Amino acid sequence: MYDLTVIIPTFKEEANIRNIVTEVNAVFKRTGIKGEILVVDDNSPDATIAIVNDLKLSMPNVNLLVRTADHGLSQSVADGFTHASSDTFVVIDADFSHPPELIQKMYEEIQSGNEVVIGSRYMEGGGIRKWPLKRRVISLGATFLGRLLFPDITDPVSGFFAIRKSVVSGAQLKPRGYKILLEVLGKGTWEKDKEIPFEFSDRETGASKLKIKTIIEYAQQIVDITLYSFAHHRSAAWREWTKVFRFGIVGISGIVVNLGILYFLVQYAHSEDLLASFIATELAILNNFVWNDIWTFSSSENRELSSRWHRLIAFNVVSAGGVAINLGIFYVLTRWFGIYYLLAQLVGILIAFSWNFLLNRRLTWGRK
Ligand code: GDD
Ligand code: MN
Repeated sequence: MYDLTVIIPTFKEEANIRNIVTEVNAVFKRTGIKGEILVVDDNSPDATIAIVNDLKLSMPNVNLLVRTADHGLSQSVADGFTHASSDTFVVIDADFSHPPELIQKMYEEIQSGNEVVIGSRYMEGGGIRKWPLKRRVISLGATFLGRLLFPDITDPVSGFFAIRKSVVSGAQLKPRGYKILLEVLGKGTWEKDKEIPFEFSDRETGASKLKIKTIIEYAQQIVDITLYSFAHHRSAAWREWTKVFRFGIVGISGIVVNLGILYFLVQYAHSEDLLASFIATELAILNNFVWNDIWTFSSSENRELSSRWHRLIAFNVVSAGGVAINLGIFYVLTRWFGIYYLLAQLVGILIAFSWNFLLNRRLTWGRK
């Protein structure tokens, strides 16, 4: 029936709703997309509902869902998913923070095989206009946490995105707070995603409803998605865990290589032990690089560093940093805090491992 459903969640948007609906419809007209507009309102006490009902008289493709229970942005969007009459959804704010012109591009990217298309504020070409420093800091913190789960995605908490129905049709979403996209990425079924940059501009009229409670809910959501990924091996976050496990296994193989070569050089080649340790470490790094390149990160396509030599150099630099971190932590814990040397070394290893994984994941094997 429809090619596309544009879901607009609203709460007290009497100042914007007429304009946003009109603009989205203009996009449909211009592009020939057969689109539905689904306004999901949380029973606003202002004129929002009356205005949408009025718009419906002249626009038969406009539908309104009024919710009266379980108030919330994420819940509203999730309800929109189940009430939409097409197989492709775009979610957009009512307050013109998200440019409606991009709906066409998002739709095309879905048509060309992507299952999730995200409007990103944090990739090249994207940005944020008119945000106070406090909101920027909160948003960056939220984005950082989200990127631990989805490292290839620059803006996993964007409110502007498109998905195929199949991504969420079987998913048990537990929507709450503002970050419905993170929930979709964490619990949905998808493999191919695409980000397109846009400039977020803060609302001209009405007020934002972001509260401190939203931040707490967000932290709970991160934990929830992490636990979910352990039990659901088709989720995107599980794919990420697989990489962490493989990276760990490769790391252990590196220790074996390192000790073996060190033993050989000292025992049979009679090398000086410091030099032997250096050579053994370098060969272990080489060993780890090869296995990570062909196994741990074998599935990463569209790499920023397309040449294997560049990846090798990056891996070497990051690994050298890891060694320095390990030594530094060992020094500080034993000398300054008097901690037992084996425990100090273990802490150093764990932190260096995290450093190595996170940096190599983003730099050495990161996506363009
Ligand atoms: N149905 C419903 N229920 N809609 C709501 C609710 C609610 O409880 N709260 C907000 N909305 C609607 C607003 O009417 C608007 O259309 C949209 O959701 C965004 O609300 P804002 O209050 O303007 O959000 P913001 O500008 O602070 O937050 C934006 O940035 C976040 C990422 O930093 C939004 O784009 C969020 O979607 C996004 O997650
Ligand atoms: Mn807004």
